[in-house]
Amino acid sequence: MNSIPAMTSQKVHDYLTEIGSGWQRKGVAMELGCWLGASSIALLRGLVKAGYDLDFWAFDKWDTPAPQVVKAKAQGMKISAGQDLKPLYCDNVGKIYSKIKAIKGGMPATLSGFNGSAIEICIFDAPKQEPVFTGCVRALKNFWIEGVTVLGLLDYNFYERHNGRKRQQFRAPVDFMEKYGSHFEVLKSWDDECPVFFRYVKKITMD
Ligand SMILES: C[S@@+](CC[C@H](N)C(=O)[O-])C[C@H]1O[C@@H](n2cnc3c(N)ncnc32)[C@H](O)[C@@H]1O
Repeated sequence: MNSIPAMTSQKVHDYLTEIGSGWQRKGVAMELGCWLGASSIALLRGLVKAGYDLDFWAFDKWDTPAPQVVKAKAQGMKISAGQDLKPLYCDNVGKIYSKIKAIKGGMPATLSGFNGSAIEICIFDAPKQEPVFTGCVRALKNFWIEGVTVLGLLDYNFYERHNGRKRQQFRAPVDFMEKYGSHFEVLKSWDDECPVFFRYVKKITMD
């Protein structure tokens, strides 16, 4: 594990590295919801091994709401409420890979800053409720490659930790897969982890 505070486990980082190592030179990699860079770095370590030479796209608000201050402190790092974390993110991931396109602000609106190249690896670690989840899918799905793209939904089972209205809201990725699951195959899931990784296998047309 690198020393950067993370909201994902070592197990998931190892899998991100494995996915990166399997990069097929068919498209770019991106992460939506990067925080301080721990999961991006795990993926980039694998990508670098595979000879990745394209832009790595990173999207986040990087605006440090109070709960992030607490999470970082618990992992030994001091950040302040309202701090712009983009420079810290860029510094952290920049030690591993230089071609980072980091776009700060609220998704899905900021996804209009993406240049529309084919996407081979697409990690969602922010979109977990509507309308953001479907907004992000709509903005990116036309750039996914059938039979190739890996879609990592890192908050897939997050709803299980909640009750009532929140549980319903955080089901957005599960609701999506209940509707469009035949367009994907499951690559990896764990009994004790939120993330589930899918391969996009069949074109989606959404109404
Ligand atoms: C779970 S954290 C990401 C953790 C990181 N991937 C890791 O493993 O350490 C989610 C991140 O998404 C960002 N975020 C949440 N909603 C967002 C939105 N609508 N637009 C942009 N960023 C968002 C937050 O700022 C936060 O940094």
